[in-house]
Amino acid sequence: MPEGHSVDKSEAHGHKLWRKPRAWWLVGIPTGGFLMFLAGIIFWGGLHTAIEVTNSIWFCTSCHEMETVYEEYKETLHYQNASGVRATCPDCHVPKVWGPMMAVKIRATFNELPKKIMGTIDTPEKFEARRLELAKHVWDRMKKTDSRECRNCHSFDSMNLDEQDKSARKKHIPERALEKGETCIDCHKGIAHELPEGY
Ligand code: HEC
Ligand code: HEC
Ligand code: HEC
Ligand code: HEC
Repeated sequence: MPEGHSVDKSEAHGHKLWRKPRAWWLVGIPTGGFLMFLAGIIFWGGLHTAIEVTNSIWFCTSCHEMETVYEEYKETLHYQNASGVRATCPDCHVPKVWGPMMAVKIRATFNELPKKIMGTIDTPEKFEARRLELAKHVWDRMKKTDSRECRNCHSFDSMNLDEQDKSARKKHIPERALEKGETCIDCHKGIAHELPEGY
């Protein structure tokens, strides 16, 4: 991503924002969410509530409304399936473990919130242009953590391999994964969203 290019665009957008009161209102919702989160940290007792609020589809899509990620996800089994168990955005993207979870919240506050205000991905075109890079961040993270968030729900141990077709059964053997250094995301990219163009 050429840096100069993106800076120009966001500056231009900044001027446009001033003339569009509605845009400020839209930014207000997520900003409010973050402020509540920060307030929660200051008043320790409220932290639990702040985490609950910011770990909801509602909160994530208050920003990720202009892109296609939400629409695509709604077509997948993780949104709706026969068993009625739903994986929400934070289930896959926000760790349950305390330290890594706070790291994500902090990154969101200092990277995603400012970029939301600058409008870095606020049109489908800008989003598509950045999509592969964002996907790579997610893949790298999942590779490093051995797909930890997937494993909050799935495990090789609890799979009934007899019920799976042959292609899956051969791959879901813990010893094989260990030996080859494979993790879920190596084979299951694009399960919740379309794969980025050019991948
Ligand atoms: C304040 C607005 C805002 C909120 C709220 C928000 N995001 Fe984001 N998010 C963004 C922006 C803007 C980017 C693009 C950042 C960039 O271009 O580097 C982004 C990037 C991402 C990425 C790409 C990964 C990466 O590291 O670059 C993921 C995944 C993501 N958001 C998931 C979520 C989830 C899950 C939630 C809810 C817990 C959420 N976001 C809440 C604005 C937001
Ligand atoms: C909150 C729990 C949860 C999380 C987190 C989760 N899943 Fe799932 N996953 C499910 C459920 C429930 C189903 C649907 C099961 C069914 O009804 O067959 C499913 C289905 C699947 C399927 C088969 C259907 C399809 O879409 O291809 C794959 C593959 C899969 N998950 C991989 C993953 C991977 C990889 C991750 C991590 C990036 C992950 N899951 C995270 C609960 C979860
Ligand atoms: C070496 C590649 C590989 C790895 C690693 C792998 N899978 Fe799979 N998985 C497959 C293939 C191939 C299929 C069958 C085709 C498909 O659904 O994509 C499959 C199918 C599935 C299904 C659907 C099973 C069914 O019959 O409904 C689920 C759920 C799933 N994988 C979850 C996982 C999870 C969770 C992990 C990590 C713990 C994982 N897989 C690791 C290759 C892999
Ligand atoms: C089942 C797990 C799962 C769920 C649920 C999920 N995501 Fe993702 N998300 C991923 C994975 C894996 C990637 C990495 C790219 C890929 O493989 O599609 C990703 C990538 C992204 C990206 C980077 C851009 C891109 O398209 O690659 C954003 C932004 C994002 N997700 C936001 C969300 C939001 C918002 C929600 C809820 C509406 C959500 N995700 C729900 C697994 C999930």
